[in-house]
Parts: sequence; C-alpha cells; structure tokens
Amino acid sequence: MSDKQIFLNGEYMPIAEARVSVLDRGFIFGDGVYEVIPAYGHKTFRLGEHFRRLNNSLSAVQIENPYTEKQWAEIFTTLLTSAQGDQSIYLHITRGVAPRDHGFPAQTSPTVFVMCSPMTATAATLLEHGIAAITLDDIRWQYCRIKSIALLPNILLRQEAIDNDAMEAILIRDGFVTEGSASNMFIVKGGVIKTPPHSDQLLPGITRDLIVELAHQHKMACEETSITEQELLGADEIWLSSSTKEVLPITRLNGKPVANGKPGPVWKAMYQHYQVYKQQLRDQANS
Ligand code: PDD
Repeated sequence: MSDKQIFLNGEYMPIAEARVSVLDRGFIFGDGVYEVIPAYGHKTFRLGEHFRRLNNSLSAVQIENPYTEKQWAEIFTTLLTSAQGDQSIYLHITRGVAPRDHGFPAQTSPTVFVMCSPMTATAATLLEHGIAAITLDDIRWQYCRIKSIALLPNILLRQEAIDNDAMEAILIRDGFVTEGSASNMFIVKGGVIKTPPHSDQLLPGITRDLIVELAHQHKMACEETSITEQELLGADEIWLSSSTKEVLPITRLNGKPVANGKPGPVWKAMYQHYQVYKQQLRDQANS
C-alpha cells in the first residue's frame, strides 16, 4: 500500500491509514467543495486566486472556511516538502459527519482532506498533434461557478467523450459554449482569442484567467465574450485550459479537423508564454 502522506482533519498520515465516516455528507450527498492547485518547484501557483475561489465556493454553500490562509499554506508546505517535482494539491472540504438528513445539521465541523499528486508533463504527442473533443449538451445545474465535489454530470459527459475517442466534451447550453467537462474553453478567429465571460454557467478557471492576463500582457487580441456553437464549429483554433492540462490545442471536433487539423500559431505563442510564467515560479522557489 502507498505510504503517501496526506492531511486529514488536522493530522498528517499515510493515505492508507486515512479514514472518513460513511455518514460524511461528502460521501452521502456530495455536500462539499474542492480546489486543485498546481505547485511548480515547490511554489504554489496563483494561491491568492485559488483562496478567493475557495472562499466563494464555501460561502455559496454556507460552509465556514476552517483555516486561515496562513494555516492552509503551512499544510501545503508540509505536504510539498516530502514530494518530488511539480505537484497538484487537491483540497477537499465537506460539511462534515451527521445523521442522514437533507437539511444542514446544527452541529458539525467540516471534514478537510488535502493531498499532493505528481503533475506529469503533458505528453509531447498531445502538444504536437492536439487532442480530439466532441460537443455535448450542458446537462449540469445553474451554479457551475461553485467548485462542487458533486461531479456526476461532469463525469458522465467526460465518459461520453472518451467513449467517442475524444479527450474532452465541449458543453453547449442554449446554443452557446459554456466550458469543458473539466476545463475552460477558448477559440481563435481571425487572430482574436475569445473565451466566454465569467457567469454561473462555468467555473471561473484560474488557468483561464491567467491566459487572459498573459494575452493582454503580450498584446494579443483577446475578448471575454459569448461564443456560439456555430462560431466554435468555424473556429481557426480551439484550446482548453485547466490547472492540470494547462493550455492544450483541440485539433479534432466531432470527428472533423479544426481548420487544418494542426495546433495553431496563436496557441503556440500562448503555450510559450505559459511555460515562461511557470519557469519564473520555479526560479522564485529556488532563489
Ligand atoms: N478541474 N471547468 C471545470 C468544470 C473544471 O473542473 C476545471 C478544472 C476548470 C478549469 O479550472 P482551473 O483552471 O482553475 O483548473 C474549468 C480540475 C482541474 C479538476 O477537477 O481536476
């Protein structure tokens, strides 16, 4: 069994020894929220932004943040110290353990689980050739801004993509692109980068926001604007973004090539800017 160290409810322990009650509301109802935070070198990526989103998710579901930012940072540092290379930190908070009843329990403290996992570099072949995606109806709820642990719709959508030899599902609601099953979406048309604006219909991705920031910094035309399904189908380039996938080109959509079927020049430029940003974080960690 793995002796990987994790954090659970105030204690560090090997993952094999971690135990949570079957009455935990995360297990029973999916009643909780989470974050995924990359750490390059041992330097956490956009920690302030991840804390802000965590607090927004927690307050939307009325769970109090059990720790201060300093306490969270200490937990991450402890876990990262025993880990090698780039890591993703998975942080999970549920409403806690209580007799099964839909309404919030009066007395309970949140369950807190944190673990690190190695972030494997994206395979060179994916960067060279891009990935396949399919479009699917966005069957999810109205609060996609919350990073909820209840991910059954996202899982079903991702699996449908996999069953169709694709890596991601691009979700369409009322004729507009929202996001991917576990990523945000970008298109490029006529040299202009476009991504849907923040709304209740998508997760405000930390990677997405960084890409928008990098585009502005490097004077690349970039608009946060609605994208119709037709615009998606006629795009010159399509990208997805997430903490673990960074920024990846989608070169096949619904079994057809996107433009010439190769990663585009605007993606190549953005990918480079992203790598430089990451390297600066690693350099800060080493200085
Ligand atoms: N998912 N949209 C959804 C529905 C997501 O699940 C994710 C990330 C994103 C991208 O957000 P960010 O750039 O902050 O990672 C957008 C994570 C990685 C996951 O569930 O593992």
